Amino acid sequence: MAALNSIPGEVHCAQDYEILARHFLSEADYAYIAGGCGRDSTLRANREAFDSVRLWPRLLRDVRHGHLASTLLGHALPHPIMLAPLAYQTLAHPQGEIDVARAAAATDSCLILSTLSGRSIEETMPHAGEARWFQLYFQADQAATLDLVRRAESAACQVLVVTLDTAIKLPSLGALRSGFSMPARVVAANLTNYRAPAQLALARGQSRIFQGAMAGAPNLDDLRWLLGQTRLPIVVKGVLHPEDALMLKAMGIAGLVVSNHGGRSLDGAPASLEVLPAIRAAVGPGYPLLLDSGVRSGTDIFRGLAAGANAVLVGRLQVYALAVAGALGVAHMLRLLREELEACMAQAGCATLADIGPQMIYRNKDEA
Ligand code: FNR
Repeated sequence: MAALNSIPGEVHCAQDYEILARHFLSEADYAYIAGGCGRDSTLRANREAFDSVRLWPRLLRDVRHGHLASTLLGHALPHPIMLAPLAYQTLAHPQGEIDVARAAAATDSCLILSTLSGRSIEETMPHAGEARWFQLYFQADQAATLDLVRRAESAACQVLVVTLDTAIKLPSLGALRSGFSMPARVVAANLTNYRAPAQLALARGQSRIFQGAMAGAPNLDDLRWLLGQTRLPIVVKGVLHPEDALMLKAMGIAGLVVSNHGGRSLDGAPASLEVLPAIRAAVGPGYPLLLDSGVRSGTDIFRGLAAGANAVLVGRLQVYALAVAGALGVAHMLRLLREELEACMAQAGCATLADIGPQMIYRNKDEA
């Protein structure tokens, strides 16, 4: 079904877009977006982790001065709900990332544009608000990586988010079984002018994984090199281990996204919400930590903030809302999430983000 030009009456909460999107996407396209990887065990763990966190409300707290504002990496953040980088959004809607950027601008939300966006940096960023970040995938050719950085700088991006958890990208078995393939009309618009990486000829006995796909995977030297190429703060996305977090902080990385790529990188990895408290404990209270993977409601955002995040990224919900009603749908979904978070804070007795901490999570004696 073609996307609507109005807000659908059936949507009562942000997650309703997940249900409704089934009518606006083909079965195979839906399977590609919704799927995790392999047998989807991490995808399921993400939801189980959020659902298992019990909140512990307090009474008689005055929240009449309540708000969602904070600062992050030196920039004012009107609310802590950010748009995660998602590849190929023209799969869901012809305007793709342009409509997502419009929705971000209309709702004061920070847009993180993917290297693999269906609309280019230059097409998309003029529609975004001031809060605009670029997600960088290292390219096989260093000159292409550097060119992407310069293009992001020219488009006034405030932060580079380097994703490091998907050197190999395995599809979900559900997407494979549904027969999904990327339509020819959907392209990685930022990369069309770069040379395609040369195909490696593997010698007999060499592995398609170790000597093939991983041959061009980014390493520590690449990250050090990148730090020397730009004045923009660099955030690393895909961190799940406290020791990696400490190493990245020590080398000058400005912040981290604790993420398992929405269950799309290593099947069997823990939920990002589960590992967040250990990472917060490792890096200390002042260091910027963002969280994604499994967020479907304002209450989930509250849980992420209580577990130690400064802000939370929303992935699939944005592409579902885009498929249903374009920019209007994404803006509506963001407004719903924001209201859900505010309602949760008010009921829990938290007026500001600073009031949301581990003390708001209920643990029974066995868990303590
Ligand atoms: C992604 N994700 C992703 N991440 C990234 O750094 N660059 C990218 O291009 C993409 N592309 C992408 C496509 C699709 C279809 C999905 C579902 C995910 C991961 C994304 O940024 C984020 O980590 C997860 O989507 C968060 O989980 P939820 O909110 O989708 O559960």
